[in-house]
Amino acid sequence: MASITRPPHAVVVPFPGQGHVNPLMHFAKILAARGFFVTFINTDRMEQRIFKTPNDSAAVSHQLLQQGLQIRFLAVYDGLPPDHGGVQAIDEYFLATQKLGPAMVRILRSTANEAPQITCIVTDCFMACTHHVATSLAVPRVVFWTYCASAAIALANSRTLMDKGYIPINVKEARRPENLITCLPGKIPPLIPTDLQTFFRVQDTADPMFQVIMYESEIQNEADYVLINVFEELEGPEAAEGLSKGYPALPIGPVFLPDFLQSTKSSVSVATSLWEEDLDCIKWLQTKALSSVLYVSFGSIAVMSMKQLQELALGLEASEQPFLWVLRPDIAEGKAAVLPEGFTERIGERGRIVQWAPQLKVLSHPSVGGFLTHNGWNSTLESISFGVPMIGWPLWAEQFHNCRFCKEVWKIGMDFESRVENENALVSREEVEMVVRAMMEGPQGNELRKNAARLKEAATKAVMAGGSSYRNLDKFTRDMTARANSVIE
Ligand code: UDX
Repeated sequence: MASITRPPHAVVVPFPGQGHVNPLMHFAKILAARGFFVTFINTDRMEQRIFKTPNDSAAVSHQLLQQGLQIRFLAVYDGLPPDHGGVQAIDEYFLATQKLGPAMVRILRSTANEAPQITCIVTDCFMACTHHVATSLAVPRVVFWTYCASAAIALANSRTLMDKGYIPINVKEARRPENLITCLPGKIPPLIPTDLQTFFRVQDTADPMFQVIMYESEIQNEADYVLINVFEELEGPEAAEGLSKGYPALPIGPVFLPDFLQSTKSSVSVATSLWEEDLDCIKWLQTKALSSVLYVSFGSIAVMSMKQLQELALGLEASEQPFLWVLRPDIAEGKAAVLPEGFTERIGERGRIVQWAPQLKVLSHPSVGGFLTHNGWNSTLESISFGVPMIGWPLWAEQFHNCRFCKEVWKIGMDFESRVENENALVSREEVEMVVRAMMEGPQGNELRKNAARLKEAATKAVMAGGSSYRNLDKFTRDMTARANSVIE
């Protein structure tokens, strides 16, 4: 009698933030294309931002199904009042996510008859509550890292780093040779203490975010399988092993890239942007010369002082380079930026300001030659994948790690000297002008572009049939398919 292979069912749970929903959604589509049934769990707050009305999520599921992709969306109430500041009140927001386990178990149990038996929970590395879900449902917990492997290893070993005195971080003495961190597992370059999470810079270990991150770090180690949104050729094939405690730890990224490479074919794109994308900026990019435009964006959460934004504006103006600048409506410490008097008139067609950009379309556009970025991991990986070198302006979380690695390890980035010495220093318009010119018109920028082009090729190869990430995904698919069938039979 011929045996029928049952599809594995992955429950995918992102942290409710843009830099987490994006990669987890891309990964959900990869899994569905490989025959998985996927349940994607958002918080209600996130679902309303993405889908606008509850019916939209059902419509998206239906469209996906017509292409043979089975993804259903569920939402759990995040327990916060509707007018809560969300991720901007980050400690409360995190603490709320840490309590979501029982609600997730309830909704999965109450909808069990709509889906195959659950095979695994694919959890964002910052959703400790899924430990409760995986334990209650007796299924493996697959930890999905939205960081590169070396930053992930550092975070997962926070307790050890604290015991050894690297945490809380002594920023002033971080660059002393005796403070190099060489005790971490996995073959990764030595770290310096300022590469570690910025939440560990506070000296009071009772600080709420210090505690939140310490707890998430402990639970990150409660894994049965680890996947990392990076590709082996970037950090070396052995780096990821530092995340394994006997279970597989596989680089499977960049997860956005297969979908992007396929997008010319008819495929349903699941819009996950929290703000409306300004598509007209692509038409503006068409009018610019090859590699001539600097793209400027600080991601979805980071904010800056009004004074710094104005200084940055004047530096961009003085650089005389074309630029596309994302200024979120809350970028100036919660408010809209007020730019220097006469700035937009003086810039004219040379510069373009948008509230939110279609970032993948922008970074893949031939007119873009550099990215001034906060070095969130998604932005960094997207830039690497499109061969665009970066000027790093890290602000928080593991962005300092990414920025230093771009500059010193991967040789595809620059930074601002004044910020390396003191992250709170105001970056002057003169320094902005100097660094932007060096990136966009100097030999240094050309060298970085060449290095970035090599990594672009490696990233593309990694996700194509036979590439390192593709093979790792084959293994994950085989392992979960085997589990789905062994559990049921
Ligand atoms: C957060 C943290 O800041 C970051 O350090 C961590 O690595 C991931 O979580 P965020 O600040 O949002 O993320 O930055 P990033 O990781 O770069 O993610 C932003 C996402 O929004 C990217 O996928 C990017 O393509 C998208 N984006 C950004 C847009 O689509 N349009 C924009 O205008 C800006």
